[in-house]
Amino acid sequence: MPHLTTGTPEHTALQVLAERMGAAEFAARLQAERRMRARQGVGNSRGWFRFEHYWDFYGLIRSCLKLTGLWARAHRNYFDIHVVRNEVVLARLPAAFDGFTILQLTDLHADLHPDFSAAVRRVIAPLQYDVMALTGDYRTCTFSDHLDATEATIEMLQAVDSPRYAILGNHDSLAKVPSMEGAGIQFLLNEHVVLRRGDTALYLVGIDDPNFYKSHNFEHALRGVPADACKVLLSHSPETYRAAQQFGFDFLMAGHTHGGQICLPGGRVLMHDRSAPRHVLSGVWHEGPLQGYTSRGTGSSGLPVRLNCMPEVTLHVLRCGEA
Ligand SMILES: [Fe+2]
Repeated sequence: MPHLTTGTPEHTALQVLAERMGAAEFAARLQAERRMRARQGVGNSRGWFRFEHYWDFYGLIRSCLKLTGLWARAHRNYFDIHVVRNEVVLARLPAAFDGFTILQLTDLHADLHPDFSAAVRRVIAPLQYDVMALTGDYRTCTFSDHLDATEATIEMLQAVDSPRYAILGNHDSLAKVPSMEGAGIQFLLNEHVVLRRGDTALYLVGIDDPNFYKSHNFEHALRGVPADACKVLLSHSPETYRAAQQFGFDFLMAGHTHGGQICLPGGRVLMHDRSAPRHVLSGVWHEGPLQGYTSRGTGSSGLPVRLNCMPEVTLHVLRCGEA
C-alpha cells in the first residue's frame, strides 16, 4: 500500500480495496500499475504480440485499411453493435432462475471515439435483462489518465435500471473503482454477489485481471460460496478456463480477445496475445462440464474499426436442464 497517513480518507479507502481484493493481489496490482505508468505502457508481457503496447502498429493497420479501401467499411462496423443471444443450459441452476438474463458488455474502451457512447445506449435501451455484467477494459490506453474513460462509461450506462456488476481488465486502473461505484456500478474485485430468488441463490463471482496484472484470486472470490452452488464467473480474459473448471464454475463469461477485431473473412482470428487457445477466443466453448462464452467485445482497441468481426452486446439467458 502507498505510504499514506493512517486514518485519512485516502488511507481508509485503500484499506477497504485491499481487504476486498486480497492484500497480496492489491499490492501486486498497485505496484504493476505504478510500473506501467513509469514505463509509459511498455509492459512486461509475454507473448509475441500485444497490440496495446505498439502504437506504431496501429498506424500500419490504419494505412493498410485505407490503401485497400476497407477503412470506411471497418469504421462503420465499429458502430454496428450486434445483439447476440446465448442460451446457457445449466444443470445446477435453481428453477426460480430459469430464464434469468445477464447482459454482457465488455471491452468498451469508452474513450476511443466520442460517438461510441450514444451507439451503445441506442442498442441496449430496448433490451430486457435482469442484471448487467461488465467484463473489463473501459479505457483505451493501458497507462494514461483514466478519467475520460470512466466518465464516458458512467454516462453511457446512467439510464440502466438493472443492477450493474463489473470487473477490471488489463487496460484498467484501480483508481476508477471509487467513481464508478459512486455511480452505482458495483465491482467484484475477487468477490462475489449472491443473487436471490425465493429461497434459492445464484452466485455471480468476479475476479481481477488474470492477463496482465495477474491479480486474480479464486479462493478469495469464492469465500463463503457453497461448493455445490450454481456459480457464474466474470473473468476479463478466457485464459482462466482451466482454473474455472477446477474451481467448479458452471458458466464463465469473458472478453479481452475482441474476437480478433480485424479478422479474415469468416471471422478467422489473425491477432491475439496467445494467452488462451483458439477454441476459447470467441463465442461459445466448453471445458469439461464448464460452459464458456468469450464476447467479441462491444468497443474496439486502438482504432475505431472492425473487420469480419462485428462488435456485440450479449444476452446470456440461463436455463435449467441437463447441459
Ligand atoms: Fe479490450
